[in-house]
Amino acid sequence: MATPRNIRTVHTVAELREQVARWRAAGETVALVPTMGALHAGHVALMEAAKAHATRAIVSIFVNPTQFAPTEDLGRYPRTLEADLDKAEGAGVALAFVPDVAEMYPEGFATTVSLSGPALGLETDFRPTHFAGVATVVAKLLGQAAPDVALFGQKDYQQLQVVTRMARDLDLPVRILGVPTVREADGLALSSRNVYLSPEDRAGAPALHRALSAAAADIAGGADIAASVETARHAVIAAGFALDYLEARHAATLAPVAARSDGPIRLLVAARIGATRLIDNLAVPG
Ligand code: PAF
Repeated sequence: MATPRNIRTVHTVAELREQVARWRAAGETVALVPTMGALHAGHVALMEAAKAHATRAIVSIFVNPTQFAPTEDLGRYPRTLEADLDKAEGAGVALAFVPDVAEMYPEGFATTVSLSGPALGLETDFRPTHFAGVATVVAKLLGQAAPDVALFGQKDYQQLQVVTRMARDLDLPVRILGVPTVREADGLALSSRNVYLSPEDRAGAPALHRALSAAAADIAGGADIAASVETARHAVIAAGFALDYLEARHAATLAPVAARSDGPIRLLVAARIGATRLIDNLAVPG
């Protein structure tokens, strides 16, 4: 017989709302960590941070079909619910919301959030419908759980800016927090998709972080932004990646930057190694 868990799992919006209402009535505060499952140490950091910002933490686990293009990995996306619940429980999460597709997108569903600003370019050039799917499901999750705070990894930096902008623009009564990326010892950012890396690709993958780190240090030291970015692009390609983009952008608006005076700078990269597409990003210090 399975050991009873300290984390409650619910599958419907009605059960989720009922639990949140009970907590609210008892004066508790609520943090939400939206995920697609396949939880790793990066998610654990998000869930632990959630506990620091509210008395109750909720994790949602939903592989959202609308953010995958027909050519992408929806069918083979890792699904590890029991292990995910163990990790969420270990991180002190009180409730897991695990809806199915029909619960999230009932018959007749016809609404999509329309985006511009930080959603333009970068990922959108390669995954044109991705952020509409993300923003729509996040807007739904925020409406369903009505949390005080919602936490997202800085690993998906453009997503974090898109969601932050959406919450502000739609006056959603929630604080959006970004939590720093968790990395392997060699610098590779943790991602649920790292399981797809072959041993050879895994060995080459830290080159992404190395290239960003070198460019960030050079720019912080006064080097030309365009030249530093170009050097980083060459380093990524030389390491065996097919490069989708490597760009220097304004850290909040994600508009292109040409000079340090254009504002705080974030370097963002997406590149493919073998059959796996990786993304990463890094702040330019100062
Ligand atoms: O970052 C993710 O895992 C997903 O994009 C999110 C925010 C859970 C929406 O499906």
